[in-house]
Amino acid sequence: MFWILLLAFLIFILWFYFFFTKKPLTVTPRVPVVSGRLPFIGCGIDFIKNPKQFLLACIKQHGETFQLHLFGFDLIFTFSREGLAALYQIRENEASFTEATRTLLQLKLPPEATTGSMTMFHRGFRKRLFDGYLFHINNAIANKLSELDSTKGTFEIFSFMKELVHRIGFLCWVGQEAARVDYLRRFVADFEELDPEKGFQNLASLSWTLLSRKRNEYRALKDMEDVLKEIWLEREKRGEHVDDNLTSLHEMYADLSEAERYRKVALNVFQFHLASQANTYAALSWTFINILQHRRLCDEGLMRDVTRADGRTLDVDVLDEMNFVDDVVDESLRLAQQSITLRKVVRECQFEKYRVPKGIYLATLLSITNSAVAETEKSANEFWPFRQRRDPSDTRVSTFGHGFHACPGRRFALAIVKVFLVRALTRFDFTPQFREVCIPPGSVGAVARASHPCVVQYRVKEQ
Ligand code: HEM
Repeated sequence: MFWILLLAFLIFILWFYFFFTKKPLTVTPRVPVVSGRLPFIGCGIDFIKNPKQFLLACIKQHGETFQLHLFGFDLIFTFSREGLAALYQIRENEASFTEATRTLLQLKLPPEATTGSMTMFHRGFRKRLFDGYLFHINNAIANKLSELDSTKGTFEIFSFMKELVHRIGFLCWVGQEAARVDYLRRFVADFEELDPEKGFQNLASLSWTLLSRKRNEYRALKDMEDVLKEIWLEREKRGEHVDDNLTSLHEMYADLSEAERYRKVALNVFQFHLASQANTYAALSWTFINILQHRRLCDEGLMRDVTRADGRTLDVDVLDEMNFVDDVVDESLRLAQQSITLRKVVRECQFEKYRVPKGIYLATLLSITNSAVAETEKSANEFWPFRQRRDPSDTRVSTFGHGFHACPGRRFALAIVKVFLVRALTRFDFTPQFREVCIPPGSVGAVARASHPCVVQYRVKEQ
């Protein structure tokens, strides 16, 4: 017994030694390495406190490409034009988006919730299904606005938009049944339990997730699966065939056993909602905030887009004509994007002029690269929706990504913003109850949330 314990202890010491004193991986030719003073943690604490400020300091000291060693990970950060072009062009089988995303999410989520392919997203955004989504987007927005008090009142922008995008999302990924109050309430509660946004903002909650071996997360997934199964069985009982995303998912997994199919469908519904919720409600909030704060600047363009669309069916053609809103969303995202573009090297490969080993991560931070705009009229940190259209080959500024992993949900997200603006601005006058809206300094990983509540007052327009 003694020898077994001694052996276990020695193995633990060896593991501890190698894990915590792991030397940074090396790229050839070498790049400057920022590894901090603490073993294992490396420069992690400085990075977490304020990623943008920390990386700007690194750029100043080491140039546009360098390596960070933090929490046992090695990341090559690049900010040069060539480096960014290479990052967006690198192949999935060399440096993987999916593997990098999985590494980030697996702290919070059950492993099965972090696996899957992009096929379901591409199938999910087929034209035929998209028309159905537009129907739900229109209805959900009309319903949400009709719940506002009949003359005037206030709401907090980010929480209002979050609720709205929850409602829209579940209607689109699941179907009309998600409008049922009891179903929607369960979907939202289950999603909130699983949402990595909550986990990463609150270290206590993340620790509980790990200590409890993700018990609540497994329970939430199971509950989501139960509701979806109930919905599907009710449809079968009625002999109803609905041409929507839920049917499409069931068709995609027709070869699996019934139990596996229900599980896969639930995982995919969750993944759709996760991909959507990560950025869409914040994008909608920032666009709305910028319009409220720059009303005079936007008035003419909005009058053109919104007035032209008002009174018409808001279908794909009408929404595609709203070019000024496209520019406002683009500029709002440019300023609010905090995403890290991250790829995990899955086999040794060439990245720009470097030979990079397996296991290293390639990265950039959009809140830094997105200031690469011509400053002819306005500085890069000001909201100015009249900037010159960017050259598509220039990948420095990114709102919905570039290359192989550019966002498949772009049109969907834009449709939500446009329908909301047409319905809200034609019916209400809004007065912001805030002055400046700040991005929290530690914000990283998606379109920013605001550091303080952003309350707006609304009043129904006189006819
Ligand atoms: C305004 C809202 C949104 C913004 C700003 C946004 C932004 C982005 C960005 C920047 C990327 C590229 C990531 C990278 O290169 O590492 C991306 C990829 C992706 N987005 Fe979005 N997104 C939004 C909405 C959505 C929605 C609604 C969905 C689906 C429901 C979605 C699904 C995805 C997926 C699946 C990818 C990965 C694509 C691939 O790897 O091929 N996004 N998004």
